[in-house]
Amino acid sequence: MAKINILYPKKTATIAPEIYGHFTEHIGGVIYDGIYLGKGHKCADENGFRKVIIEKLKQIKAPVIRWPGGCFAETYNWRDGVGENRPVRQSWWTYKDGRMESNQFGTHEFIKFCKEVNAKPYFAANITSTTPLDIFEWFDYCLSDAGTTTLALEREKNGSKEPFEIPYFGIGNENWGGGGNMRPEYYADLYRQYAMILNNMPFDTKLIACGFDYDWSHKFFENMEESWKNMHGYSIHHYCNAPGVATHFDENQWYQLLYTASQVEELINRHWAIIKGHGMEEHSKLVIDEWGAWYAEGGGPSNGKNLYEQQSTMRDAVVTALSLNIFNNHSDKIMMANVAQLVNNIHCLFLSSDDKCITTPTFQVFDMFKNHQGATAIETVVECEKSAFSDNGEDKYLSNISASASVKDGKTTLSLVNLSYTKEASVEICAYGAKKSDNMMVTVLAHRDPHAHNTFENPDNVTVCVAQITGNALMLPPASVTVVEFDTVI
Ligand code: AHR
Repeated sequence: MAKINILYPKKTATIAPEIYGHFTEHIGGVIYDGIYLGKGHKCADENGFRKVIIEKLKQIKAPVIRWPGGCFAETYNWRDGVGENRPVRQSWWTYKDGRMESNQFGTHEFIKFCKEVNAKPYFAANITSTTPLDIFEWFDYCLSDAGTTTLALEREKNGSKEPFEIPYFGIGNENWGGGGNMRPEYYADLYRQYAMILNNMPFDTKLIACGFDYDWSHKFFENMEESWKNMHGYSIHHYCNAPGVATHFDENQWYQLLYTASQVEELINRHWAIIKGHGMEEHSKLVIDEWGAWYAEGGGPSNGKNLYEQQSTMRDAVVTALSLNIFNNHSDKIMMANVAQLVNNIHCLFLSSDDKCITTPTFQVFDMFKNHQGATAIETVVECEKSAFSDNGEDKYLSNISASASVKDGKTTLSLVNLSYTKEASVEICAYGAKKSDNMMVTVLAHRDPHAHNTFENPDNVTVCVAQITGNALMLPPASVTVVEFDTVI
């Protein structure tokens, strides 16, 4: 029997709710036909937003949403997305799918969407093809008090007298690649320039710098010098790339992908070591700006119409739960994480087309894990078997069980993932330093077939089961996610 030891005296940190964040880029079907249908559509609310997505995001307590890119941000001019007569433009992604950007969804629409969901907005600034003055003016437009500046008056004319609240602003996106193909030294100089100007404004917005690999991070921090004071977060991306489509894989490919997902832990630890090495840990935490499993051939229901759209199976649910467990367990180092992307795209929570919209197994995991948000993370030690697999001819092993625990208002939330493709696991929960109630509420996401997924025709093929159990033992089905909740006296 596997053992899950919960060490209550070892508190890691409060799990920032923003670790359960989302990403909505102007790419493929994320915005148009995803979250935005336009006013008058039968599935839209009075602002043109897809009602069911708003309701479901409220249900999972979506804390933060990043926008407008991604790479889309590299050529985005915020002025195109405010006021009447919005121009139609080619976007960063037009070369991939021929779609033009109508700019119907812009700054006001995004802010309204976040308000309806009750999520914080996180903007990503274009610093690749724009100037610090443009972003200074975007700040002025969004944040200046009513009636104080010409841009605040323009905002009022466009429907918002009161300033917006924008707690987070990213200075660039993947500037090592699509975001300008920059060297870290050059990006550091640009960051210093933008951040100096924006931090000089009387607003509380936290600025986030763009990271990449270890070498980039070292060089970037070396070149920041005193400017680290103008940086409040350091972003890294972690995609688990896999060949083929989301729904076709064998047992070995299952483990290969989960292994890649598990490597985010090393990324977190090593980047954190770099941040600490540069003495910045009190000031700047990590932002996992984009994460998820990305299948080379997609395989979503739009059959290629929506760029990068892919199905989401039990394998993606397990990647989600494994990643969120890792983020919980490193909540002392992470201030935010945004799964990429929300709808009709990579690792999505929803798939939609006109009046159809379904949730994916990834959505179910976000729903199951929501009580971790804002709770205190408690260290767990797992004793379990490993599974062997082959990765490019090399033998590798992966622990069969991943766990994270947190406590809030006298209740423990313990999330468990059985990574084994074929074997169920019986586990015993052992609490140290606290009295655990024998009554456990258990929610399980499992399916006899790890390839199982939801479709427009069968939207509830993969759903959760809830049961009340007494004792400390339970059985985890193969390829499954389980959340256990119980009262705890510490
Ligand atoms: O999420 C799709 C793309 O992946 C984003 O635009 C970019 O930041 C990343 O490379």
